[in-house]
Amino acid sequence: MFNLYKRGTLREHFAVIGTSRNKMTDEEFQDAVRKSLGTAKSDKDAEKFISHFAYEAHDVTDKAHYKVLKDRADELDKKFKLEGNRIFYLSLSPNFFGTVAGFLKTEGLTDSQGFNRLVIEKPFGRDYDSAAQLNDALSTAFNEDQVFRIDHYLGKEMIQNIEALRFGNTIVESLWNNRYIDNIQVTLSEKLGVEERASYYDNSGALRDMVQNHIMQIVSLLAMEQPVAFTDVDIRAEKVKALRSLRVYNVADASTNFVRGQYGAGNKQRAYRDEDNVPHDSNNETFVAGKLLFDNYRWSGTPFYIRTGKELADKFTRVDVVFKKPLVDIFAFPQNANAPLEANVLTMFIEPKAGFSLRLNAKTSGQGFQTAPINMDYFVDAAGEKATPEPYERLIHDVMKGDGTNFSSWPEVSYAWKFVDQIRKVWDLQQPAFPNYTPGSMGPAAADELIQRDHREWVYRL
Ligand code: BG6
Repeated sequence: MFNLYKRGTLREHFAVIGTSRNKMTDEEFQDAVRKSLGTAKSDKDAEKFISHFAYEAHDVTDKAHYKVLKDRADELDKKFKLEGNRIFYLSLSPNFFGTVAGFLKTEGLTDSQGFNRLVIEKPFGRDYDSAAQLNDALSTAFNEDQVFRIDHYLGKEMIQNIEALRFGNTIVESLWNNRYIDNIQVTLSEKLGVEERASYYDNSGALRDMVQNHIMQIVSLLAMEQPVAFTDVDIRAEKVKALRSLRVYNVADASTNFVRGQYGAGNKQRAYRDEDNVPHDSNNETFVAGKLLFDNYRWSGTPFYIRTGKELADKFTRVDVVFKKPLVDIFAFPQNANAPLEANVLTMFIEPKAGFSLRLNAKTSGQGFQTAPINMDYFVDAAGEKATPEPYERLIHDVMKGDGTNFSSWPEVSYAWKFVDQIRKVWDLQQPAFPNYTPGSMGPAAADELIQRDHREWVYRL
């Protein structure tokens, strides 16, 4: 928010009321805001920014207390001339989302003159049924176009670049189908373990924590058809269509096409089951790899492989688009017998470095005729990195503008749950052989076997 303030996107007409069960004065809350600014707290605009923050201790189940919040909101509305525009940002246990949304409406907080928007932090349910219940509860108080379900991956610069790359380039989009693409690989690899979040994570696991939301969103952007226009309504419509054609697995296919893992002890790393707040017999997965199949004209026969996990070799997020090899390799014989042509690969580096790389085959310099793969690279430079907003900065700005492009709509969330629920159902019936990978690796051997079975390899491997 301070970045938005500095950029002039957020000016004098804003106020924030922080709430939680803890008692705190405005000054104490402002002090917490000041601390969160880090070195920017000495910025000349910092104190003015901080003066826009207020605090109310609040029990979300206490209906009567919403009146106090309303009075405070009305007072700040006048003071900072907010014209009744309100954003309610819920980052709390999903059990309370419905209660809060209901009271915001019945107790009159949404009766203001301006817009009323609801921001929801994940997790949005733990399966399709609970997500649907939650959605029903929200929809008694807010319309779908007022609800902004945050998925911070959609605020990342290079995730947004998927659309630019695909729909801004003839050479990309004209090849973007099962005739030319052999497979697509999405990797969200984390070096960190569960850290202090074990009590949440042990109830969630990598499937719910990363696949149902972030990976499904990335995959839908990669798989969707070209939207009619670059608007939230059109983009969401295409993402939903893509997710509808994702094959929901039966029991047998879910077992063969998905692999789970849990890290054991490494040289310097204790095993997941020995982490604080993790039960010693936990069967929670810290790694998932899988194969996704779309039953549609564009993608039939071209699998999407995905993987994500904690305590892996490195922190990076990337998409590798592997093209089919030329049907005939005219260079293979006789001069070049040892160097068959490699597949072209278009890699989107999402994080930590941002850019694209295209692997082509080219003639090596010199006598004779040998080919070798070369890379054409583009990486965002320091100036570009500086201009890149933080995902949350961008998404909060989008909420203020009322732009839902980079938020997950209910139909997207519901199709993603239906897909993931099937995997979960099968896993819950089977006893995993955990732990099955070492920290610092790229996950269990089964993740390699999953793709090798199809006579393919992960493009990124150790
Ligand atoms: C969050 C997950 O949504 O994404 C975390 O809950 C995960 O477990 C994080 O570490 C990864 O986000 P990023 O932006 O660091 O790749």
